[in-house]
Amino acid sequence: MNRALLRSKPIVKTPPSDHVPQEIFFCPEESLFYSQCLERMVLNTCEDCNSIVEFGAGDGSPVINSLLKSQFSGLIQGYELNSKSCEVAQFRIERYKLSDRYVVHNACFFQRDWQSKGNYLISNPPYLPAINNDLYMPALHGGTDGSSITKQLLGIGCQSAMLMISTYSDPVGTIEYAIAQGYQVQDFMTSPMSFGRYSSEPKVRQRIAELRRHGKAFYSSNIYILAGVLFKKSRKLKADLSTELIKILTAL
Ligand SMILES: C[S@@+](CC[C@H](N)C(=O)[O-])C[C@H]1O[C@@H](n2cnc3c(N)ncnc32)[C@H](O)[C@@H]1O
Repeated sequence: MNRALLRSKPIVKTPPSDHVPQEIFFCPEESLFYSQCLERMVLNTCEDCNSIVEFGAGDGSPVINSLLKSQFSGLIQGYELNSKSCEVAQFRIERYKLSDRYVVHNACFFQRDWQSKGNYLISNPPYLPAINNDLYMPALHGGTDGSSITKQLLGIGCQSAMLMISTYSDPVGTIEYAIAQGYQVQDFMTSPMSFGRYSSEPKVRQRIAELRRHGKAFYSSNIYILAGVLFKKSRKLKADLSTELIKILTAL
């Protein structure tokens, strides 16, 4: 199949069925936005990213969708704990003939030594706040305030990181942590998200309400905001947008 045909054929995420087991992360609204952030802020603009690492590839569709719409010619190495998600990702990578540009490893991202590898990190990380990971999908647990994994990723020391940040998972603490690690905010995109199946779980909603009382969660009865944030360690940035980003993420 030639590339023109591939480009005109968007990947449609099918709902969980006999062929797509339930425990695969399934939130088309969120995955689509992650894909759009990758396309606009990473794959179509980066000059320093021949090699990208991804935490939590899921079923691979966000990266695949964005690769099909970009001229990116480097390699993205995804890591995904869930073996069924990996199988689906592998199937899609082969179907779209992207094996030379996207590889998904069925492994824990944190088991690799990232000290000397991975200069460019991308992720839509787990960010559900809850007292423990006894959740519908435990792999989506982001610690008691939802920001633990995001902070761990910011602590690895990559030069660039494009991470999805939710307004109910201590966004200010997360951005301040990034700044303390030497990052600046180069770019961001935001989108309203409705509370879906995972974030509507009573344990999660209760924790989110507690976080709001402590000034660590921002949302309305209808929506929260999800931001794709491009963090850079480079000192050559024209402007650091962290102040503007915090204002927008705390407005609800
Ligand atoms: C919010 S989902 C995002 C999936 C996909 N990137 C998307 O946006 O559709 C987070 C993913 O991270 C995976 N995950 C959680 N902990 C992980 C770890 N330590 N190593 C690799 N993947 C992990 C989960 O299994 C889940 O698929």
